[in-house]
Formats: sequence, C-alpha cells, structure tokens
Amino acid sequence: MNADNRSRTPKDKAFLEFMKTGWSDVNALVEPNSQANKEAELKRKQLMEAFPNQVIYIEAGKAPTRSNDTHYRFRPNTEFTQLTNWGSSAVEESVLVLDSKLGTSSLYLRPTADADSDEFFANTEIGEFWVGPRPDLGQIQNLLEVQTKPLSELSEVSENRIDLSDEKLKQFLSEQRIIKTAWEISEMKQAVEATKQGFENLIAEIPNANKRGERALETAFFQKARLLGNDLGYETIAASGNHANILHWTKNDGDINKGDLVLVDAGIELDSLFTADITRTMPISGKFSEVQKEIYDVVLEAADAAFAVCTPGNRFRDMHNEAMKVIANHCEKWGILPVTAEESLKSENQQHRRWMVHGTGHHLGLDVHDCAQARKEMYLDTELQPGMVFTIEPGLYFHQNDELVPEKFRGIGVRIEDNVAITETGYDWLSASIPRTSGEIEGWMESIWNRD
Ligand code: GLY
Ligand code: MN
Ligand code: MN
Repeated sequence: MNADNRSRTPKDKAFLEFMKTGWSDVNALVEPNSQANKEAELKRKQLMEAFPNQVIYIEAGKAPTRSNDTHYRFRPNTEFTQLTNWGSSAVEESVLVLDSKLGTSSLYLRPTADADSDEFFANTEIGEFWVGPRPDLGQIQNLLEVQTKPLSELSEVSENRIDLSDEKLKQFLSEQRIIKTAWEISEMKQAVEATKQGFENLIAEIPNANKRGERALETAFFQKARLLGNDLGYETIAASGNHANILHWTKNDGDINKGDLVLVDAGIELDSLFTADITRTMPISGKFSEVQKEIYDVVLEAADAAFAVCTPGNRFRDMHNEAMKVIANHCEKWGILPVTAEESLKSENQQHRRWMVHGTGHHLGLDVHDCAQARKEMYLDTELQPGMVFTIEPGLYFHQNDELVPEKFRGIGVRIEDNVAITETGYDWLSASIPRTSGEIEGWMESIWNRD
C-alpha cells in the first residue's frame, strides 16, 4: 500500500530488529466439526467423480474493493465453503485444488505472518500486526481435515484446469446443494432462530422510529446479525407504507408512520454461512386495520395453500400454482381482474401476476437464492425430495398509484415468507416459532413492547 503521504512506518534496521522481539505465541486453536468435514469430503469425492482427469480450482476469493485501498467485508465464495466447510473464518485468497486423476484434495493458503515474518507489521493487508492472528497450516489441516499447503506452492496449471468460471462446474455444485444434510438443516434452524431474535430487536425499536425510521429498524436487525451470526444473508428490506410494493427496497431511508404497515425481509447468516430468509409484515401501530388485515389474510391463505402441497412427490412448481389460485380467486372477488380467475390462471394470461410478479419460493442454503445454477428440470420441474429447503413467500402489492385497485388498497404491500425443509412424509417448518398470523403478530408486538 502506498500511503507514505500520510504516514511512514520506520524501516530502519534498529526498528526492524526491535519489532521482531518480545512477542509470545497467540493460541488460535479451534475444534474441528468432524461431521461437517466428512460431508465436505464426500462432496469433493463426488465432484472429482463427475469431472475425471481434471485439476479443479475452487478459489475462496478476495474482499471486493469498496474504494481505493478500502474493502468490503470478506466472505468466501459459496462453493469454496461448500467443499471445505470453511466459513466466515476462511483466509482470503485460499484455493482448494482437486486433482481428480490422482484423487487428491489440497488446500493452499497464506501462512501466518507473525512477528518472525517480514509482513508482520509492514503489510497492512496480510500482516498479523494489522489484521489479527491467523491459524497456521497445521491448525487448519486439523480444523478442516484436508491437506494444507502454502499458497506460494500453488502452480497455475493450464492443462486440464477448470475453475468457477466453468458453467458446467457451477451447475454441478449448485445441484449438489439441492439436498441438504441433517447437519446443514440444523444450521439453518439455528439461522432462523437468530433471525427471530433480530426481528424481536427490530420490533422493540418500532415505537422509537419516525424520521428515516426504516434505517432504525434495519440497524436493529443488523445488530443481532453481527452478534449472533457472521452477517446478513442479504441486504435487509425494511419497507414501510408504499415502499413495501417496491420488491427490492433496500434503500431503507423512509419514515415510519403510525397507520402504515412495515414489510421486513431479513435473514441472518451464521459463521457456517448458512442463512435464513424471513419476511414479516407488521402494523406500525401494533394493530392491523380492517383493510390491512383483509389483504394480509389472503396472502396467508396463499401461503397455506403452498404449504399444503409441500410434500415429497409433488413438484416444486405446484407450490407456486396453488398459491396463485388463491391470489387469482381473491383478485376476481375484489373485481380487479379484467377476466375471470380461471382465464387469468391460464399460462398465456396471468393478469393476476400484476399484483405478485415474483415467484412463491426458492431454494435456501449457503446462498439466499441457493442452487441458482441448477437446471430447470432439477429445480422448477423436479419432484420435492427429503432434504430440500425452500422459502414459501407469496405476497400482494398494491402500489399507491395503481388505478385498477380500490382506493383503500393503494399503498399496501404484504409478503409472508417462511422456510421449510422437506422430510420423508411432509415438511419441517423451520420458521414455525416466528409469529405469523395477524393475531399472532399483534400479540408478539404487544409482548415485546410491554416487557420490562
Ligand atoms: N430476500 C430475498 C428473497 O426473499 O428472495
Ligand atoms: Mn426474503
Ligand atoms: Mn426469499
């Protein structure tokens, strides 16, 4: 880093020698998770079998630049964590190399840069004096149960090399994540429980939030994300009033007004990098108005219709189709459809989708939109199987300038999003502990506001 214009680290001999002395060892030992390590090993094996005679490079990556010499927080590539079980503590620029001809896995990483090294205080990016102590290669080998090697030994193989720019590889790894293991599902349950605490912290903040209050709610959630997990699983949507109708509202600079609803879509990512993805729509006053409740209950009915077909043997797209029947039928009853619900539900029509343009759910895991590179026949068209984890998230969105809906509906947007894992006989409702019906939400808010 060239920052001589604002400070200069001494490079004189006496100083350099002095800086190498007087530091005791820092113990950076961590316990291995044998179950997760075994699962990662199995994934590496399957990958090598699918790509014979190749040298497969899976890079952890590097923190993206924010500006000049400042960076965003580092998060390893999902595929790297998938195959190593190394999550939030992964060392930047590590590379997993699988040689499928030899059947070997090697994890190349930067060795420690402690007091004995030249980088210790002289390199602001990797020197441990600046960025904190790192475990050494032996410790990482114990932690992840994979062979480690120094990054300096990594060679840039050009023949038979593939890496994450290869679409077939990305597709394979995306599809490998479709079925979650019991350990992975338990992580996701824990991510949901942390997310519930984030929502509770946020609800406690509602009575104090007014000007730019969406930010107050966003940051109340974020506090728990950093405290209980690694980070947010994605940017929080804290959308009050008409902002709820802007599907990706992450600016969150709106005011909080008493008579409105606030839609919060947020999830906490744990250190394992598994995330939750939950939406609750809540009345800022603590009580839904009649019209807010009317819309809310239709979304809830749509979600319940999706839950009802959430069982092995049904297809992923059935959940969406069932939810859409509820939405279309109510739109017909409200007199806002230009055709009958039956006509609207035909694939060539779909007028009801004006009020819910997004899908009803998606795979969830290490990525919020997990398995995104999976083929359609493995995703939308596939039968539900035990171990799949999804969101169910129907909504209704009535923009304030939508002239086709009754005036009393305008400016109201509702989404309800839950997380489920398919089991042998049905589903495990991962987010069952988070209040969901309008009555439950009111009771939840009241209990949080009235606690000592
Ligand atoms: N939070 C993104 C989504 O619900 O898909
Ligand atoms: Mn969401
Ligand atoms: Mn979602």
